[in-house]
Amino acid sequence: MSGGRGIVGGWSSSWGSGGRVSRRAFVTGTFASALAGAVPLLGAPPAAAAARPRAMVLRARPTTVSLGQRTVRTWTYNDEVPGPQIRVMAGERVRAKLVNDLPAATTVHWHGIRLDFPMDGAPGFSQEATQPGKTFDYDFTVPDPGTYFYHSHVGTQPDRGLYGTLVVLDPREPLEYDEEFTVVLDDWLDGIEGTPDDALARLNASTDHDDTLRSEALGGVAAEMVHPLYLVNGQAPDTPMTFRTAPGRVVRFRVINAAADTAFRVALGGHRMTVTHTDGFPCRPVNVDTFLIGMGERYDFLTRLDEGAFPLVAVAEGKRGRAFAVVRTNRRAESPASTVQVPELTERMLAYRDLEAPSSFDLPRPSRSISVTLGMRPSGNEWTMNDKVAGDHLRLRVDRGETVRLVVDNQSPMWHPMHLHGHTFQLRLADGRGPRKDTVNVKPRQRLHLDVLADNPGEWMFHCHNLYHQEQGMMGSIGYGPARGNTRHRPQEHNRRRKR
Ligand code: C2O
Ligand code: CU
Repeated sequence: MSGGRGIVGGWSSSWGSGGRVSRRAFVTGTFASALAGAVPLLGAPPAAAAARPRAMVLRARPTTVSLGQRTVRTWTYNDEVPGPQIRVMAGERVRAKLVNDLPAATTVHWHGIRLDFPMDGAPGFSQEATQPGKTFDYDFTVPDPGTYFYHSHVGTQPDRGLYGTLVVLDPREPLEYDEEFTVVLDDWLDGIEGTPDDALARLNASTDHDDTLRSEALGGVAAEMVHPLYLVNGQAPDTPMTFRTAPGRVVRFRVINAAADTAFRVALGGHRMTVTHTDGFPCRPVNVDTFLIGMGERYDFLTRLDEGAFPLVAVAEGKRGRAFAVVRTNRRAESPASTVQVPELTERMLAYRDLEAPSSFDLPRPSRSISVTLGMRPSGNEWTMNDKVAGDHLRLRVDRGETVRLVVDNQSPMWHPMHLHGHTFQLRLADGRGPRKDTVNVKPRQRLHLDVLADNPGEWMFHCHNLYHQEQGMMGSIGYGPARGNTRHRPQEHNRRRKR
């Protein structure tokens, strides 16, 4: 569809009534995407899942994988990149046993999920990292439907293959669509230009930034480095991922940015998109041609597919290169080249001011604000929060039940996708409205208001989701109750408690 008309009618009434449920959407979506998307599927399908949650195994280990024509040695879950897709209904449990067959300690973090703190996979915060040869049982209830992912939270491990997607279905899904595809974007260097640890060492040894990697939309330097490959569902543009379906179908795309250092500009050639969700949560549907997605962000959009073979492109913003896949609704249509021009990329781009949560998702007004200033030390390779860096990190305190406003002021020369664990805040724009999110891009000289309802006790990480900035200090936390000085939480006790 190229016109301006959206495909979501009667938005407010459908949210108001909450009643328009398309069973077909789930069932078709679940099975069709598992097949057409070639995403390995774990977890019971919705009908069976209600009965009894099955434990799945996530085996972290070194392996050799093909990313299209390139074969690399890397670290994965279950020998695949991305790891197995987990699908559950909101309100159900996820049970996953991490088996660590890596030569290093590791954890699994469930990005965006409002789970019980001991299950957060945050090393030094919610647990000690699981040692090689050991296991950890993740077992938690997922309260909110939406598009999520999981990844290691130890060092530079997320820039290897240690990530997978987590889709939480809504038992009262208000959107109607025929099918869904999960699109996980990644930047890749492991096994091609050394390891992510080598890349971090290179950054630590230099004090300046590559001024050629610029993006207007990100307000300056876009990234720390150029990755040699960009992937859709683990596939490079030379052997593109192909999503197959029929013309005229309404498809829900769930787009996840699992990259370490790349924002992507996403468009589907020949189609407009109706954006319906940000970071798992619904927003007022908005029609755009393209959107920018920072590391850790997710967007869901609907579109009615024309007949043919269409490029789904994710341009590495400010860099050279792109991730590329094909959406095919006709067997005989000629495939677009991975380098094809996609005019939508420079047309109407989604802005945060377009996004608005339905009023039932609004958070209470905050009773106080806390300022968080993002900075860079003169070294050029240490990123700070209120002048503090990981090691002696910024610890913010909240009381259970209150709503606080984080005033995030970026006084550093680069943009930062700031991510809060265990909560979905509300980005409050000038008019007081705004979307629910858990990751938000803050441009240089920008100040954003994030309202957080403190309803999930823990000592939660709040950090930049540029993995290299995180490793260069940009890590803080939000904890409940009085400050605990330097004492760490005692994760072993959490584990013991959980097991009973
Ligand atoms: Cu994807 Cu600390 O997060
Ligand atoms: Cu950053």
